[in-house]
Amino acid sequence: MVTLLKFDSSPMGERSISRKLTEKFAKSWLHAHPGGKVIERDLTTLNLPVVNGFWVGAAYTPEEARTPEQSATLATSDSLIADLQQADEYVFGVPMHNFGIPSTLKLWIDQIARAGKTFSYGPDGPKGLLTGKKATLLLASGGVYSEGTVMASFDFVAPYLRAVFGFLGITDITIIAAGGTAQLMSGKVDPETFLAPSLEKIHSHASI
Ligand SMILES: Cc1cc2nc3c(=O)[nH]c(=O)nc-3n(C[C@H](O)[C@H](O)[C@H](O)COP(=O)(O)O)c2cc1C
Repeated sequence: MVTLLKFDSSPMGERSISRKLTEKFAKSWLHAHPGGKVIERDLTTLNLPVVNGFWVGAAYTPEEARTPEQSATLATSDSLIADLQQADEYVFGVPMHNFGIPSTLKLWIDQIARAGKTFSYGPDGPKGLLTGKKATLLLASGGVYSEGTVMASFDFVAPYLRAVFGFLGITDITIIAAGGTAQLMSGKVDPETFLAPSLEKIHSHASI
């Protein structure tokens, strides 16, 4: 059975734009993959711990030599990585926070970037181990950061996620950005009109 892992990281609940985008993606994807399974992960409710020295020590201790405490410390990371290994495809809803990704998404990345599990170092340098996966990143930001705009160089969301996922072996990445959500706050545009072009792109992409 083909599986989609759907990640949300906006703390804004019902008012979130990125959550509307991932919801649309999942719906269109299920329509295109009858019998497929969508697994939802809300990164804002997982209470993921910050990676500390003990965690790093545990991660770099060979599995067979780990103490029970070290294994317990890595249990969350192990389970998040198993999620990724088992799924065929991923979709991420990502709000821009202070020109970067939300802290809950960064905590998750720190848990899943593991030497020997999701990447390795060999004679040819680092090698990503999450190969054969497809990822769609659905971004929402108050401002507009598309190529050629004055604010483009302030976007640390798309380049960072492309780099870190690429490092882990996920190179089949599609990014759809809904920039300019601030217009909704000011009432300049109604939500339906604003969302229509992004939802259209998402539907086409998820239906492939
Ligand atoms: C804590 C916080 C920081 C934000 N920082 C930025 C920012 O740096 N640039 C920007 O364009 N919008 C910023 N915004 C606006 C959000 O990107 C915008 O509201 C977007 O719609 C968030 O996605 P969401 O609706 O799914 O939560 C910020 C919003 C919050 C709550």
